Amino acid sequence: MHASARTIWDFWADRYEGLWAQHFSLAPSRKLVLQRFDEVVPSDARVLDLGCGVGQFVKELAERRPDCRIVGIDPSADMVARAKRDYAADNATYLHGYLWDVPRGDGFDVVTSMHAFPYMPDKYGALVRIRELLRPGGRVLVIQANTEGAYDWAFLKFVKLTTTKADYLSASQLLELMHSAGFQPGVVRPIPAPPFIPSIQLVEGVL
Ligand SMILES: C[S@@+](CC[C@H](N)C(=O)[O-])C[C@H]1O[C@@H](n2cnc3c(N)ncnc32)[C@H](O)[C@@H]1O
Repeated sequence: MHASARTIWDFWADRYEGLWAQHFSLAPSRKLVLQRFDEVVPSDARVLDLGCGVGQFVKELAERRPDCRIVGIDPSADMVARAKRDYAADNATYLHGYLWDVPRGDGFDVVTSMHAFPYMPDKYGALVRIRELLRPGGRVLVIQANTEGAYDWAFLKFVKLTTTKADYLSASQLLELMHSAGFQPGVVRPIPAPPFIPSIQLVEGVL
């Protein structure tokens, strides 16, 4: 799909902060990834956030790590417009497009993708491209809802009605895919969430 085609994500752009998922899923996910940054990401890192949405994570990271240079990209024109307007930062840039539209430039030290990977149709191809965009020693941090059992499957089937076509891999499937794309396994960590929320895990691949 071309990045100019309107999708349901454009509809959500103006309503994004009001989503119930902010409380149980999106905000705790951002917190977990920021913690991982504190643990392993060196100063002056170049960071790419794939499927950045309205830019909440990019802005939080930009404020916490003014040493980092961050690029956020999203195929929804309305999400990117909101990011530029409401989540701008001196060390952050927003692009409208898909992974394939990211200019490699000097490469990236970290690629994050938060609750966007399920919507990427060619997941193996995406991970290979991410590997190409990374500098030696770089890492990919993917956080998403995972199908770990029947409850997750049923819950996520409902969530799919509110999104574009999605495939919520389990954490082990994601790790295996990362491995086949050339990554070594890093940490796998769940977000703290109430029991009725499906499994949401940070899955890391390291070069
Ligand atoms: C649930 S939102 C997540 C936004 C943000 N990362 C967050 O955690 O709040 C999903 C985002 O993925 C984007 N998206 C959909 N298809 C995508 C694709 N093929 N590649 C990258 N991003 C995509 C949507 O436009 C949307 O902004």
